[in-house]
Amino acid sequence: MDHLTVVTHPLVQHKLTLMREKETSTAVFRQLLREISQLLAYEVTRNLPMTTRRIETPVEAMDAPVLDGRKLALVSILRAGNGLLDGILELVPSARVGFIGLYRDEATLKPVQYYYKVPDCLDQRLVIAVDPMLATGNSSAAAIDLLKGSGATDVIFLCLLAAPEGVARMKEAHPDVRIVTAALDDRLDDKGYIVPGLGDAGDRMFGTK
Ligand code: URA
Repeated sequence: MDHLTVVTHPLVQHKLTLMREKETSTAVFRQLLREISQLLAYEVTRNLPMTTRRIETPVEAMDAPVLDGRKLALVSILRAGNGLLDGILELVPSARVGFIGLYRDEATLKPVQYYYKVPDCLDQRLVIAVDPMLATGNSSAAAIDLLKGSGATDVIFLCLLAAPEGVARMKEAHPDVRIVTAALDDRLDDKGYIVPGLGDAGDRMFGTK
């Protein structure tokens, strides 16, 4: 398994460039995020098991490919994860959905959980954890710790941008978790922002400052 997959599809890269631009409005940013999340969903669902079902077309009967009912759980890491979640849910409306809320304790700099609600039977599901920005990787690694504590064994981490520091942190903490991203950027700055990045993803999608 490759630990990191960068989705280089031209549509993904074009939309990502528009999202990075600082003049892009909240409405357009949100729309682009929805579109890009569906293109990324195509990548993360690529290996879902298939079976066939006997159907009748208007011409004749055939054994047609259908999903084999592999259970999916999408888990949004609040709050920015919700921007990725919405688009994916349009493609896989029957997926179960969980939420993880973490904030950074300013004294210890460690992630602290304030909300946790995930679907049952995580051990039987492909779990796709979504957060647009993989920066330091501390909260992402903590979120995966929580999911594994609930039984998850098959986890993909889906983001829009990743920093090398975050990828390294995740690889060290969770070498079994595949990261899928639209871009691997250069570095983090001293405030923990991804460079060149796109700024604060939550602020840009919700119009806050
Ligand atoms: N979170 C963001 O929203 N942006 C960054 O650049 C890093 C973390």
